[in-house]
Amino acid sequence: MARRPLVMGNWKLNGSKAFNAELISALKAELHGVTGCDVAIAPPVMYLAQAEVALQGCGCSCSGKGVVQLGAQNVDVNVQGAFTGDISIEMLKEFGAKYIIIGHSERRTYHKESDEFIAKKFEVIKKAGLVPVLCIGESETENEAGQTEAVCARQIDAVINALGVEAFNGAVIAYEPIWAIGTGKSATPAQAQAVHAFIRGHIAAKSQAVADQVIIQYGGSVNDANAAELFTQPDIDGALVGGASLKAPAFAVIVKAAEQAKA
Ligand code: PGA
Repeated sequence: MARRPLVMGNWKLNGSKAFNAELISALKAELHGVTGCDVAIAPPVMYLAQAEVALQGCGCSCSGKGVVQLGAQNVDVNVQGAFTGDISIEMLKEFGAKYIIIGHSERRTYHKESDEFIAKKFEVIKKAGLVPVLCIGESETENEAGQTEAVCARQIDAVINALGVEAFNGAVIAYEPIWAIGTGKSATPAQAQAVHAFIRGHIAAKSQAVADQVIIQYGGSVNDANAAELFTQPDIDGALVGGASLKAPAFAVIVKAAEQAKA
């Protein structure tokens, strides 16, 4: 079954009004006419309104909708009320965000987010009709101890146990080995493929149909030089890109590599 690739930029804590305006305008120019790959950017939530307006109308085949869609880097589990400092899924939705990153290792580490808490976020996103991008992946120590598959299985099972395997219909998983994030040391295509195949197989054990359609992105030091080879792997359906998503030419090379590899 053909899966449509998704390349998403995770801007993390980067950007300013001026920087965003320039990057988005460059992205629209670079990605003009891309049809074979879904593309999204997740700027800091503060700038969603600016990005929503800036992304509209690029004058290509997208008929004014724009090739680049919007996402967010996090969401709270609560939808309304006395939760100081939090942002709800309905707020993200109101500003056009579609793809919501949850479970990123930086949030698991710095904000002590548990598998169960992340599963609650997954549920909130699905209920709102948006797309969870569930980040999973092992640390360097876990990798060296041969625990990669066990860690990925545990992180996925938290969602399956809470919501059932069908929750992965229309959802995205981003396999991001922590040792590869921001280090310049990407997993090799073969290493990544092996874990992606394991993840798809793990879901297939519950439902082959769900496994066949779920998008599994690779993330961790993806750049314009290594993307094409990663995308030749059958179970790598795109990428979640950090550092290289802050440069329009590099990000565009990655998107076009996915488009070409999966055509
Ligand atoms: P990186 O980040 O591409 O800078 O390694 C990826 C991510 O954390 O999503």
